[in-house]
Amino acid sequence: MTQPRVVRVGPLMPFLEEALVREYDAPSLADVGSATAGLEVAVAGGGTLVGAAEMDALPDLRAVTNFGVGYDNVDVEEATRRGIVVSNTPDVLTDAVADLSVALVLDVMRQVSAAERWLRRGEWASGGRFPLTRDVRGATVGILGLGRIGHAVAERLVAFGAIIAYHSRSPKDVSWAYHDSPLALAAASDVLVVLTPGGAGTEHLVDAAVLDALGPEGYLVNVARGSVVDEDALVAALEADRIAGAGLDVFADEPHVPAALLEREDVVLLPHVGSATVQTREAMARLVLDNVAAFVGKGELVTPVG
Ligand code: 8YV
Repeated sequence: MTQPRVVRVGPLMPFLEEALVREYDAPSLADVGSATAGLEVAVAGGGTLVGAAEMDALPDLRAVTNFGVGYDNVDVEEATRRGIVVSNTPDVLTDAVADLSVALVLDVMRQVSAAERWLRRGEWASGGRFPLTRDVRGATVGILGLGRIGHAVAERLVAFGAIIAYHSRSPKDVSWAYHDSPLALAAASDVLVVLTPGGAGTEHLVDAAVLDALGPEGYLVNVARGSVVDEDALVAALEADRIAGAGLDVFADEPHVPAALLEREDVVLLPHVGSATVQTREAMARLVLDNVAAFVGKGELVTPVG
């Protein structure tokens, strides 16, 4: 039997794990022990750290294929220094993540989840009236990070009658209003939707000042990375009614969600499910497999980062 060239790092979805074992006899990093010779391609699960320690453990590593469009779990700088290339899974998840972003915008504005909880508590049956909510039509939705997913979210919300504004590192060739800082965007927005990549460059981009600029009528939606929002500042802003509410699919320390958020009625909390549909996760897995095949066959990646 030939020496495996592919290694699995962290938990992977069964479809992907089975294919890697079937096609490449790929062991799990947890099981390889000292038998690391020839392991050139690491397949990392979304959110699994691949840093200097993992690279040290795999001395022949030449490529990391990451399951996810975000790759803040991979130390790309360290990989580049060692001549290791990295791929991600762009495009195939754009629609699913954009759909979920819009779902959260609608939910925080129309209070879908809160109204449902209210009904289940029996408050409708006992004669209550659920408070009126807010129209999406005419509201300004600020997109923080107008990349592929941000663009898809904006296009969907245009169909709902929202007014789009955005902030990115530089203005794009679009008709939507550009704001030159997250603070200026928040000040102009009724809902701020966070869609930037994670990592050191965007850590706490949404801080207390940005939340204050969003204001007591404003909502925050985060489908990007928990690290982009200062979670303590968010809890403090919610507790002091300095913002109206939040829809969160991502958190600073997943899967842990601050107890202060779990108790609140003005937040919608989801377990990082932006891309979590059967079709999208299978498409992501196929793109990972395409990257592995291209690297094993030709020493190239299909969707390299950077
Ligand atoms: C997944 C994601 O949750 O693609 C990303 O960056 O955050 C999500 O699609 C993750 O990568 C898989 O667990």
